[in-house]
Amino acid sequence: MKKIIALLLFPFFVLFAQNGEELFDMKCAVCHIKTRPTSQMKDSLIAPPINGIVKNLKQAFGDNKDATLEFIVSYTLEPSLEKAKCKTDAIQRFGVMPSQKESVTQDELKSIANYMYANFPLQR
Ligand code: HEC
Repeated sequence: MKKIIALLLFPFFVLFAQNGEELFDMKCAVCHIKTRPTSQMKDSLIAPPINGIVKNLKQAFGDNKDATLEFIVSYTLEPSLEKAKCKTDAIQRFGVMPSQKESVTQDELKSIANYMYANFPLQR
């Protein structure tokens, strides 16, 4: 019985995962690249790569997944200097992120945050 339930649920997890990545690609990847930047790319970045962001957040929240996901959702809707966990030099260089309220919903952000948490930082 358990196996059947697992089989039935599996497609939903896959869908969820793809959805988070697709949403990220549409709504976040213009500013946050998904790869590690090469040294040539570093000068043309307009925001920190997502790899570094998630790595830094997992450290800041001591691997507390719920707190990390909550932060991603809330920060993306209402970013501020006081809330930011980004390194100071990143904020100095890029400025505080503009709120994405107009382009992404809270539910979409939950999928995006799950995608980010599950896939970053990159293993190699
Ligand atoms: C117009 C460019 C732009 C877009 C689009 C954008 N961001 Fe950002 N984001 C930034 C910049 C710049 C920073 C670095 C400064 C800061 O932390 O506020 C940042 C930082 C972040 C941080 C790190 C905050 C911290 O302090 O650790 C998260 C998380 C984040 N963005 C999530 C998202 C998500 C999710 C999306 C898509 C829904 C998104 N961003 C879309 C520009 C953008």
